[in-house]
Amino acid sequence: QAPVIAIDGPTASGKGTVAHRVADALGWHVLDSGALYRIVALIVQESGTDPEDKGTVAAIAASMEVRFSAGAVLMGERDISADIRQESVGNLASRIAAYPLLREALLQRQRAFRRSPGLVADGRDMGTVVFPDAPLKIFLEASVQARAERRCKQLMEKGISVNLESLAEDMRLRDERDRMRSVAPLAAAPDARVVDSSTLTIEETVAAVLDLWSG
Ligand code: CDP
Repeated sequence: QAPVIAIDGPTASGKGTVAHRVADALGWHVLDSGALYRIVALIVQESGTDPEDKGTVAAIAASMEVRFSAGAVLMGERDISADIRQESVGNLASRIAAYPLLREALLQRQRAFRRSPGLVADGRDMGTVVFPDAPLKIFLEASVQARAERRCKQLMEKGISVNLESLAEDMRLRDERDRMRSVAPLAAAPDARVVDSSTLTIEETVAAVLDLWSG
């Protein structure tokens, strides 16, 4: 089995960027598991599916044809990379992520990313559910304030202006939903190393993870 570095944590903790940079540094594959939940949410939203219809939502996840290619997310020929990043899609993803049937439908798809020479997997339950045998598990924390500021900056770079306070409030709600749900709640695995990135730059965070890996 190829090694896995599992990176879990709350929204906007920098997991995605850190996971990609760690994977680049090691020459490993990367899994952005949140993108899978977002893709399902986008399809639900665009097809007018009732988000409460858990069976149909899970069926969408089981049958969707998506690929990750050179940093882009492709559905058939369509590049949906930008579409899945909308806040409305993220919020819907967080709602449907509470459905056990949906999580089950995505399990094998996520495990299939584990290939030689290794995988850096980013999400909420990488260390607890999807790759419980991962040799390194990181739980990436950051204060709500730090995370809201980062997300705000990211969105502003894309020309989207947002209110910092409402963003922080959204974030608290999403974290609470992720932490309180009965299946795969957001929590550090017992054997995870907690890294608080509130006052660290991306480079420092990446270095901390690589240090933990090289022991
Ligand atoms: O960008 P952000 O960190 O907010 O979200 P994301 O990582 O793209 O994931 C979107 C949503 O999917 C999260 O709010 C989680 O509720 C859910 N998710 C999950 O339940 N399990 C995962 N392994 C990854 C994401």
